[in-house]
Amino acid sequence: MHSTDSRFPNLFILNHPLIQHKLTHMRDKDTSTRTFRELLRELTLLMGYEITRDLPLATRRIETPLTTLDAPVIAGKKLAVVPVLRAGVGMSDGLVELIPSARIGHIGLYRDENSRPVEYLVRLPDIEDRTFILCDPMVATGYSAAHAVDVLKKRGVKSEAIIFLALVAAPEGVSVFQQAHPDVKLYVAALDERLDDDDYIVPGLGDAGDRLFGTK
Ligand code: URA
Repeated sequence: MHSTDSRFPNLFILNHPLIQHKLTHMRDKDTSTRTFRELLRELTLLMGYEITRDLPLATRRIETPLTTLDAPVIAGKKLAVVPVLRAGVGMSDGLVELIPSARIGHIGLYRDENSRPVEYLVRLPDIEDRTFILCDPMVATGYSAAHAVDVLKKRGVKSEAIIFLALVAAPEGVSVFQQAHPDVKLYVAALDERLDDDDYIVPGLGDAGDRLFGTK
């Protein structure tokens, strides 16, 4: 269940009513850290269910108490969930709850004085025959999201094996992401209006990391 935007062919907006309802609570500035964290986890569970819809299946022969059955299982190796530090961790927790056998990587980026991402940490599971779900709640300028995909592609992950999951995106960021990686699907709960002068998403929800961890 998603909608699309004619400007951005690989953007999928997950418009399920529960996703939209929970996102509204997250946007509310009076929502506490505790509730924000719980909502992000719940939203990620719901979004994770939607984005894994197209995972390829294989069959495995099992014995039920009654007979032998070639039963469906997800094809290939265990999925990898890769949060972009730090706010992405709030989403990876929910995803790993949904896919408990997933491997977990980490990509740490900070912004330099020109708001460009600089890598300070990359830890990934082996890549062969594995689907990667990258997660970061906010796609603002799009540079960090595009860089995180670069990290995977440079190590040999094929674009069709990468899914990017975010909560809220700005059109400016989606445009950057799409120009860098037109072959990678980007899933969000909302495409907002714009960036402000400080590169915050408007209307947005503020600083996702600060709201998630209770920092300032
Ligand atoms: N990062 C955030 O956490 N919020 C924004 O609005 C933009 C970037």
